[in-house]
Amino acid sequence: MSRRSKNCFFPSLAKGSGVLFLAGVLLLGQSGCARRGNDDVRVGVALYQQNDTFISTVVQDLELQARGWEEETGRKLTLTITDGGNSQSTQNDQVDRFLDRGYNAVCVNIVDRTAAAVLVDKAEAAGVPIIFFNRQPVQEDLDRWEYAYYVGARAEESGEIQGQIVADAWKADPASVDRNGDGVIQYVMLEGEPGHQDTLLRTEYSVNTLTQTVPAEKLASDTANWDRTQASARMGEWLDEFGDEIEVVFANNDDMALGAIDACEAAELEKLPFIVGVDATPPALDAIEAGTLQGTVLNDAEGMAESMFALIRALAAGEDPAEQMELEDGHYIWRPYRRITAETLSER
Ligand code: GAL
Ligand code: CA
Repeated sequence: MSRRSKNCFFPSLAKGSGVLFLAGVLLLGQSGCARRGNDDVRVGVALYQQNDTFISTVVQDLELQARGWEEETGRKLTLTITDGGNSQSTQNDQVDRFLDRGYNAVCVNIVDRTAAAVLVDKAEAAGVPIIFFNRQPVQEDLDRWEYAYYVGARAEESGEIQGQIVADAWKADPASVDRNGDGVIQYVMLEGEPGHQDTLLRTEYSVNTLTQTVPAEKLASDTANWDRTQASARMGEWLDEFGDEIEVVFANNDDMALGAIDACEAAELEKLPFIVGVDATPPALDAIEAGTLQGTVLNDAEGMAESMFALIRALAAGEDPAEQMELEDGHYIWRPYRRITAETLSER
């Protein structure tokens, strides 16, 4: 029990819950928690940076979940969102403030995914559950505390789906992808932030999956940091260098895929290469409808928000999530990716 002696998690529910997880709150944690003495729940959400298309959809879905919770329970839930501005030390300060102010849970979209140990230890010391999402810490850091979680999607799956989209198009009509008919797919790769699990694994698995069907040749690859403008600049340079030799553009996310499309349009290409992204953002879906983007992979923001709230609900009810739901290795909740192409769009 001593490890949880300062646990302030939802003290108002501790009474009568009889659950071991919260027993310490009543016995030992009163001093820090009783002060608030009301039913309000406060959840801190620390973003690596606010200006990110996909992350902003996760935030919208968290807000929806929060409102749903309020309707369901009649209790107020405050979500406080902070912008880490891509700095780990800024984010650490923001998490410190959540913990100092007795927030009930913190959700962390960590800036530097190798830096989670410090935050897990701080959360443990404060007795506040910590839910990482989208940017995956290494397992040994999550293993430091039983109330540290990760909600996300398996990066390799999104890469595989991208590779399959291209492979299937080639199988259906080789000339639609292998434009010069040499039996090899010439591609460029627009990579996300260096070191991000989604960058490393989407890059690797998209190509590995494609080459199980047809050989591929990399013309160029570079990081564009998830960013549409940077991607457009990279693609502009590659178009100058390779022109219509580029048959396929793999983009680690949709914003960069849209940047590639921008560059092709600016270069007035007669026929766009076969371009695939990940996320299924609204402008990417529009691009699929318009025929400029050939496919994307749904990154399930809604499902992630739902899973994060499933954890919060269990904890708030004084239950140990590990006993309530399927947690892989005691820490992980995985949401599946889904393939999106013009065909699946028209099925809707
Ligand atoms: C990825 C997503 C990117 C970006 C990144 C931020 O999963 O595909 O668009 O949002 O997360 O961590
Ligand atoms: Ca070719």
